[in-house]
Amino acid sequence: MEKPTRTDTNAGATIAHVGIAVRGLAEGVSFYRDILRMPEVPLSDSDGAKIVGLAAGDSLVELLEAEAPDSPIGKFVAKRGPGIHHICFAVDDLDATLRRCRDAGLRIIDETPRLGAEGKRVAFLHPSATAGVLVELTEK
Ligand code: CO
Repeated sequence: MEKPTRTDTNAGATIAHVGIAVRGLAEGVSFYRDILRMPEVPLSDSDGAKIVGLAAGDSLVELLEAEAPDSPIGKFVAKRGPGIHHICFAVDDLDATLRRCRDAGLRIIDETPRLGAEGKRVAFLHPSATAGVLVELTEK
């Protein structure tokens, strides 16, 4: 059997963005924008976080700065410091994917999808279901 190419593998989930928690957007942005030359993408704030998007091909890095200490990002940074907060995968059919998660007994944080920073429906899965990574699902 031939090895699948990278194009073949786009049939499944793709990485929509990687969410990185930062203490301050100004210090976080400079590496990605000025050193890696990733263009800034406007995004709306979400979940009590200010967000700057930086394009990485078809994907994004989202820098997340807490607006309040008791927001999800505020608590994350207080406990663990800045770093990768979540990975967002885009799937063909969000409802069907959530159904498969439910059937497999995986712990879902958002039983009902809600609107994310990119204006698309999103749902988070609990890290206990995903090898320790907070996973966000969105639609392609
Ligand atoms: Co996200």
